[in-house]
Amino acid sequence: MLKNASSKYRPFPPVRLPDHQWPNRVLTAPPIWCSVDLRDGNQALAVPMNVSQKLELFDALVKCGFKEIEVGFPAASNTEFAFMRRLIEDNRIPDDVTIQVLVQAREDLIERTVESLVGAKNAIIHLYNSTSPAQRRIVFGLGKDEIVQMARRGAQWIKDRIPRLPGTRVRLEYSPESFSATEVEFALEICTAVMDVWQPTPADRIILNLPDTVEVAMPNVYADQIEWFVHNLPRRDSAIISVHTHNDRGTGVAATELAMLAGAERVEGTLFGNGERTGNLDVVIVALNLYMHGIDPGLEFGDVNALREVYERCTGMTVPARQPYAGELVFTAFSGSHQDAIRKGLRAWEISREKGETTPWDIPYLTLDPGDLGREYREVIRVNSQSGKGGVAYLLESEFGIELPKDMQREFGPIANDEVDRLGREVRATELKAMFWREYVERDTPWHLDQFATEGNNGVVSCRATVTREGKPAAIAGQGNGPIAAFVHALVAGGAPKFEVSHYSEHSLGSGEGAAAIAYIQIRLADGRTRWGAGVDTSIELASIKAVVSALNRG
Ligand code: KIV
Ligand code: ZN
Repeated sequence: MLKNASSKYRPFPPVRLPDHQWPNRVLTAPPIWCSVDLRDGNQALAVPMNVSQKLELFDALVKCGFKEIEVGFPAASNTEFAFMRRLIEDNRIPDDVTIQVLVQAREDLIERTVESLVGAKNAIIHLYNSTSPAQRRIVFGLGKDEIVQMARRGAQWIKDRIPRLPGTRVRLEYSPESFSATEVEFALEICTAVMDVWQPTPADRIILNLPDTVEVAMPNVYADQIEWFVHNLPRRDSAIISVHTHNDRGTGVAATELAMLAGAERVEGTLFGNGERTGNLDVVIVALNLYMHGIDPGLEFGDVNALREVYERCTGMTVPARQPYAGELVFTAFSGSHQDAIRKGLRAWEISREKGETTPWDIPYLTLDPGDLGREYREVIRVNSQSGKGGVAYLLESEFGIELPKDMQREFGPIANDEVDRLGREVRATELKAMFWREYVERDTPWHLDQFATEGNNGVVSCRATVTREGKPAAIAGQGNGPIAAFVHALVAGGAPKFEVSHYSEHSLGSGEGAAAIAYIQIRLADGRTRWGAGVDTSIELASIKAVVSALNRG
């Protein structure tokens, strides 16, 4: 990289708009959405979609609720043309969906495009030509007037052919391609020239699509360009202002959202942001950003995983794991403190719902309810070496109903984390349970319990047990005010180090008569050290006795 970047690059000149209004506005309604997956998205694929892939994606877009879908560039290839014909002839376009086709300002291409639309109920013919200084100079070698002439001619060729589509409601769209890199005055001039040809009315509005073809500045600059344009456009009521952002500087979503504040009423984009270079605007993000502010976006992403699968199958692209809302990991917390907060948040939410309260969603680290997108709460917490005790405990409880006492979580959390660290990967819940079993439930050396029996008399419990200590069998006996106390007495009398029980709790692991119980025991040794143990048995009494042995063995 250059030390002196300014010797090669220059800042982008912003529009002067001291009184801009958009910074003080808020979004309250969704825009008109237009999917450009099958055109802009498709043209950016290493292997473009075949007809059956396009059909599958088209159906998925319809299911999401898109009412305007740019289906292709029919004059560009036979596949594109065939796809258009297939959609129309097989009656695959619902009556409330308008198909959109893109075309350059060339008569032969316009001719073929109009031909492809015969029989469609609703269509938008989308004309474009590039308008930025670099495109005018380098690509066309033409001055401003000639570029305006090009747009006028294209508009007229289209207008002349509309009568050939008698059964079709035709609407018209014009894009000054590379709008954001074009002088705003010139963009306005060329759009006005096209309006002169098409003569839109408030009842039959032109779509003026103002693309951020290549992001060249910050999103506030784009918003100023849009607001300037909207403010200065004559016959504003005869136009729908549309935006179409790409993502070269990584701010395509922000540019669209700020442009909506600035007056854009329509948004073109693709699912998951597929498109040229860094991609088009990801419509899923903008729609769900509205949704998480309580605004119905008018698009349905209630099964975002299924949609992602269709998209990946059809395009061959992969949705990155961190893609907002749709990425595999976006509802997963790895850090222990995040897991703990989410866990508490979800509990509080459930409790408030049970009470019939209608408090708004406000859960730490989760901007919306994953369930609304067909995703699961369970995905929220997984365990890796960064997870704290909260994540470990949550997984044991949610997957196996093992409710570790708080203090025991503090002991087992670091033990589990060390093991996960050693493995160097995430662990599944079953692996975590196996770790717990190895650490506590299966601890049977140096002490092993072979037999245990009690009898009670006047509130005093006597126990007899057979144990194996370091391979040697021994019979022990003791008394206490309960089976645990009697067993502790027996063990100490039989040579175990002196200890007392400082915590005891148990619960069943499942339901029904044959369900096992799990007992948790904490012992305190004579030097003050404490140790936890756990035992599992179908008898609660035996579970607690095994838990004592487990704790002793961990001493
Ligand atoms: O990015 C762009 O400018 C385009 C136009 C054709 C609308 O895709
Ligand atoms: Zn584009």
